[in-house]
Amino acid sequence: MITLHVNGKKQTVDADPDTPLLWVLRDHLGITSVKYTCGIAECGMCTVLIDGEAQRSCVVSVEDAKDTRITTVEGLPGNHPIKMAWIEKQVPQCGYCQPGIMLQATDFLSRNPNPSQAQIDEAMDDVICRCGSHPRIRQAIQLAAKMTEKQGG
Ligand code: FES
Ligand code: FES
Repeated sequence: MITLHVNGKKQTVDADPDTPLLWVLRDHLGITSVKYTCGIAECGMCTVLIDGEAQRSCVVSVEDAKDTRITTVEGLPGNHPIKMAWIEKQVPQCGYCQPGIMLQATDFLSRNPNPSQAQIDEAMDDVICRCGSHPRIRQAIQLAAKMTEKQGG
């Protein structure tokens, strides 16, 4: 049995320690917002926050994730600037990539609260959206940065 802390809750799972965290979140805990595509840390669809840092859950073993704080998109509060900006800018098209991209953006903004357009593009370049939502992702991150500033950081 392995104990995880997911979205503020303690969860115990019966999984092989080498199992990728992605599959434990999806198959054991039913958190299907965490998506599978490449399985080799190339696309960013499976991104979650581990102790606040965006990581690709397809290449993190569940053993390595114990004793950490794991956050999926459900763990961001409804009034989180990233969620509000995503709605305001109507970022998603099919939506498949969006949970991972929102979490990567959350980590990025926490480290760089006032980013330039070039910094946003560089930070978000390695998460793949096949629907071409990157221009709206950029606008939403700029808006989230302004909202964060208004909320006092
Ligand atoms: S499924 Fe994990 S990075 Fe693509
Ligand atoms: S919104 Fe469809 S893959 Fe990104």
